[in-house]
Amino acid sequence: MLNKITVVGAGHVGATLAQRVAEKELAREVLVVDILEGIPQGKGLDQWESAPIEGFDTRVKGTNDYGDTAGSDMFLVTAGIARKPGMSRDDLVRTNAEIVKAVSQEIKQAAPKAMVIVVSNPLDVMCWVTKQVTGFPRERVIGMAGVLDTARYRAFLAEALHVSVEDIQAMVLGGHGDTMVPLISYTTVSGIPVTQLMDKATLDKIVERTRNGGAEIVGYLKTGSAYYAPASAAAQMAEAIVKDKKRILPCAAWLQGEYGLKDLYVGVPCKLGKGGLEGILEVELTAEEQAALKKSAEAVKKTMDAVKL
Ligand code: NAI
Ligand code: 2OP
Repeated sequence: MLNKITVVGAGHVGATLAQRVAEKELAREVLVVDILEGIPQGKGLDQWESAPIEGFDTRVKGTNDYGDTAGSDMFLVTAGIARKPGMSRDDLVRTNAEIVKAVSQEIKQAAPKAMVIVVSNPLDVMCWVTKQVTGFPRERVIGMAGVLDTARYRAFLAEALHVSVEDIQAMVLGGHGDTMVPLISYTTVSGIPVTQLMDKATLDKIVERTRNGGAEIVGYLKTGSAYYAPASAAAQMAEAIVKDKKRILPCAAWLQGEYGLKDLYVGVPCKLGKGGLEGILEVELTAEEQAALKKSAEAVKKTMDAVKL
């Protein structure tokens, strides 16, 4: 258990994430910081009041003062605007880059040794902004997207195959956008290649639905984007680090030549443990998957070009 985890942003994702992290008792204290007066305090207190019922002792608190975040062991960054119908994640880039820059400066000052998991969109580019502004090594700045995209893919597959979600093993790599790369060659149902259980046309439809998973939710909600599954995904990454589980999860990592890519964040299989990003696994990809990953990386680079640091 850590001493203090700070969730930045008390909006839909941030508040849900704080609750999940508290329920898992990943830290003695979960602090939620937001610029909106009263919102983090109110949500933090409300969550703490659920503790006797849910049975957790993690103290959840809210604040508007970054001074209170001093000494946090981990930051989960969800600050920023979310998508509305018709907007792509990249449409958020300029606004969120300014927000994430400001947040990163606060983190650097308050807790120079902290671990940071970035959630704000466009995810891969916001990870880069965070890494550049904090100056933290790549081990301590990791992005959440692949766990969410993979969860969507697994959920859709489980439903189509009438099997438990727990028995679907899969991995979605690439940038968190329409160019993401579900790896069909590594998708199995309890070790059985999915291609033995499902025809190509159905599988292609599921891959396409996964790529549009975020937009599908935005289409329903209209006033914002998904938050239950995103919060679960970020909490799973935090748990892997806090409990030193050495889990292999698809996360956005700063690549230095892996997969032939350099100086950008993109989703790849990562080992997460107490050191944060403890390794990147370079797995064999089909020619088609390789080309898709390259295309996805190019899309991330293009969005990076829109940001001035
Ligand atoms: P939201 O609008 O409900 O919450 C965002 C919160 O950030 C607001 O409460 C706002 O006041 C706060 N904020 C803005 N500037 C701040 C600052 N300097 N310090 C602290 N807080 C600040 O949005 P929601 O739905 O919670 O989404 C948050 C972000 O997460 C969005 O950028 C969204 O696109 C992204 N997201 C990323 C996912 C991923 O897979 N990586 C999945 C879901 C959402
Ligand atoms: C999602 O995939 C908006 O990135 C967010 O739901």
